[in-house]
Amino acid sequence: MNDTSCWKGAVMNIDQILIDMTLEEKVKLLCGKDAWHINGVERLGVPEILITDGPHGLRLSEGLDHSKTVPATALPVEAGIAATWNPQLVKIAAKAVGRECQHYNVSVLLGPGVNGKRSPLGGRNFEYYSEDPYLTGKIASAFINGIQEEGVGACLKHFAGNEQETRRFMIDAVIDERTFHEIYLAPFKMAIDQSNPWTMMGAYNKVRGTHACESKELLEDILRDKYGYDGLIMSDWSAVVNKVETVKNGLDLEMPGPQERDQQLIDAVESGILKIEDVNKHARRVLELIKKATENNKTVEVDWKGHHEIAVRLAEESMVLLKNDGVLPLYTHEKVAVIGSFAKNPRFQGGGSSHMNPQQLDIPLNEIAKLGKVVYADGYEAEYTSEGLIREAVEAVKDADKVVIFTGTTEMLESEGFDRADMKIPSDHLKLIKSIAEVHNRIVVVLNCGSAVETYDFEGVSRALLQSWLPGQGGGLAVANLLYGKSNPSGRLSETFPVRIEHNPSYGAFPGTKKEVVYSEGILTGYRYYDTKKMPVQYPFGYGLSYSSFSYSNLIVDVGRLAVYVNVRNTSGIAGREVVQVYIKDVDSYEFRPEKELKGFNKIYLEPDEEKTVMIQLDEDAFAYYLTHLGKFAVESGDFIIKVGSSSRNIHVEKRIHIDSNVDVREMPTLEDTVKDWLEDPRTKDRMNQMMEQMDIDEYSPHYGIMVGMPMTKVLWFYQMQGASDEDIQKVEGMLCY
Ligand code: BGC
Repeated sequence: MNDTSCWKGAVMNIDQILIDMTLEEKVKLLCGKDAWHINGVERLGVPEILITDGPHGLRLSEGLDHSKTVPATALPVEAGIAATWNPQLVKIAAKAVGRECQHYNVSVLLGPGVNGKRSPLGGRNFEYYSEDPYLTGKIASAFINGIQEEGVGACLKHFAGNEQETRRFMIDAVIDERTFHEIYLAPFKMAIDQSNPWTMMGAYNKVRGTHACESKELLEDILRDKYGYDGLIMSDWSAVVNKVETVKNGLDLEMPGPQERDQQLIDAVESGILKIEDVNKHARRVLELIKKATENNKTVEVDWKGHHEIAVRLAEESMVLLKNDGVLPLYTHEKVAVIGSFAKNPRFQGGGSSHMNPQQLDIPLNEIAKLGKVVYADGYEAEYTSEGLIREAVEAVKDADKVVIFTGTTEMLESEGFDRADMKIPSDHLKLIKSIAEVHNRIVVVLNCGSAVETYDFEGVSRALLQSWLPGQGGGLAVANLLYGKSNPSGRLSETFPVRIEHNPSYGAFPGTKKEVVYSEGILTGYRYYDTKKMPVQYPFGYGLSYSSFSYSNLIVDVGRLAVYVNVRNTSGIAGREVVQVYIKDVDSYEFRPEKELKGFNKIYLEPDEEKTVMIQLDEDAFAYYLTHLGKFAVESGDFIIKVGSSSRNIHVEKRIHIDSNVDVREMPTLEDTVKDWLEDPRTKDRMNQMMEQMDIDEYSPHYGIMVGMPMTKVLWFYQMQGASDEDIQKVEGMLCY
C-alpha cells in the first residue's frame, strides 16, 4: 500500500507505517544509511535523521569529508566535567551542546560514555567520568537531561564491559555478577532511571563470552527486563559480528551503514531462523526515534559567545588544585616565566571519535599575559625536548619571580584506540622540569592530561600543582583565572591519583591476555581498594584544594528521609566553593563491602566567613548492595557509619546510624554448610541445638571442634562413629530434614 497519509508533518502513525512497510523496508531500517544517518522510509514520508559524535561537544563532519568538522563549543573532556562535581552546571553546559545540535540539525549526540576506570591506563579514561559509579551516574544523568531538554537525544555508551582499548573489538570481559552490577552497570542503570536516554550504544567487546551487541543477557535480560529501558539500542561503529544474532538478541540498529547484510536478515526471516516479530519490534524502535527526533526538531540560532562563557566556567570548576605551598595565586606585579608549548598550542581535548573543531580557542599563554608580566619558552615540542630548548627555558626563568610549567600527555600517549603504556608524563618533559628546578625554586606545574599521572618524579620540585585535564576551548582563560586568583579552584578529583601504577588493583590483570580480561580485583576498584587496603595514595578521590578553607560541624542524619545535614563554614576571607561528600560504611555486612562508598554530594558556594547548613539527599538504594545469590540489590539491616568529608581520605564528621530492612539477605544454610553455620544462623540455631542435645554433644565433648567444622552431610556419619545406635541415628536424621 502506498499511502503516506498516516504520516503528515509531526504526526507519525507508527502502527500504520509498520503495516504499510515491506520486509525489505523494515530490514533497511535496522542498519544505518551511512556513517551518520539513520534511514527513513522515503516512500512513506519517514525522514532520515542525522546522528553524530560527542560527547564533550558536537563533532559533525562537513559533508563527506570526515576529517573536517563543523565549529562547535568544546567543553572539557568528561574526566574534567565530572571533576566539577556540579550536576547543575553540567546540565547548563549540556543544554548548550543540545542547542548546537539543533542548530546543525543533529537529532542524536553519541554520548555520554559511562564506562569505568578500572586502570588509570585506560586509553579513553579522559572520555569517561569517574572511577566511582555514583558520581558517574549523577553527572551522566545531568548531561543527558540537559541535551534532551533541548529536544536532542543522548546515546549512553558503551554498554558494557568496555573498560579498555586494547583489543577492544574482540576481548572478552570476564566480570563477576556482583562487580558487574555494583560497579560497571550501576552508572548505566542510574542514567536510565534518572534521565532515560533516547538511545544506547552496545560495546565492541564480549562480555562473559558473547559480543555485547549479541548478548541476550545484556540487551534483553538486563536492559529491557531489569532496567525497563525502552529507547533504541544501536551498535558501536562496526561492532556487529553476526547480524542475525544481534537482531535476535535485542539490538535495534547496526551502525554505521551501508546495509550490506540486509539480505541475510531477509533470508533468516524467510527460512524461519528469525521471527518477523523481532524485525517489527526493532523497526518500531527506529521509527519511534525518528518520530521523537522530528517532533523535537527546531531551528536554533546559537549564542556562541554565551556558550564559550559556559565552557570557561565549566573548565574553571573542573580544574583541581592538587598542591599549593603558598606560591599561588600569582600576582600581577610578578614576573612569570611560562614554559611549555602546551601553553601556546593547548592540549585541550583527547584523540579519537570525540576529537572536535572548537568554535574558538583560548590560548593559556595569551590569557596569562593579559593578567601579568610574562616571558615564555617552548621547552619541548610534543613529547620531546632538546639541549637547545632546555637551555632557552632555563635562560627564560632566571630572573622570573615564579615559573609556570605546562606538561602532560600528548595524543600519541593518550587517545581512543590504545591504552596508555604507563602513567608518566613524557621523560623529556621531566628532564625539562628538573633542569629548571636546578635554577629556580618557585615552580608551578600545570598538568594537561585526561587521566591520572604519576607525580612523584616532580612532586619534590613543584611548589604548586594544578590538574587542568583536557579543558576544552575555554581552558586557556580558565587556567589564567585560577592561577591569578580571579577564580577560586573548586574542582575535586573524579579519580584517585595513585602513587604509582603498580599500586592500582588491576595492575597485572589489565589489559588481560589475548582473549580475555578478568576483572580479578572485583568491587575493589579505585578508592574502594586504596581505602579498604589502607594504601598510600598521591591524591585521593574527591580531593582538591581551594584558596579558601572550610570547617564542618553538627552532622545530623534523618534516616527516614534519607537526608544528611551538616554545617559548613568558610573559615577564610575568600569566597569559594566546597564539595561536601557523603560516604557510607556498612559496619557488619553479610558479604564483604568496601571501607567507603560515595552515596551523595553537594557543591556549595560560601561567602567569606559564611556558614550554611547543607542538605545532601541520599538515593533510595543508598544502603543497598548486590547479593549474587538473590540476583538483586538489597539492603541489609544493621549499623552504618555516615562519613562526611572533603575527599575519601578527609572525613570531617561521622555518625553511626541503624537501618532496618525487611529483606533477609542471608542464604538459608544447606546440608553443604557446616555445623557452625547452622549453630550461628538464627533460622537453624534452635534445631541444631536440639540435634546436639539429642546426640549428647556439647562444647566439652571430645572432637567438638572437629565436628563443628564438618558439613551437615557428615553429621550422621560422625554420630555413628561415636557409637550411636541405629535408632538414635534415625531420630537425628528426622530432625535434619526440613
Ligand atoms: C567509538 C564510539 C563512537 C563511534 C562513532 C567508535 O569507534 O567507540 O564512541 O561514537 O566510533 O564515531
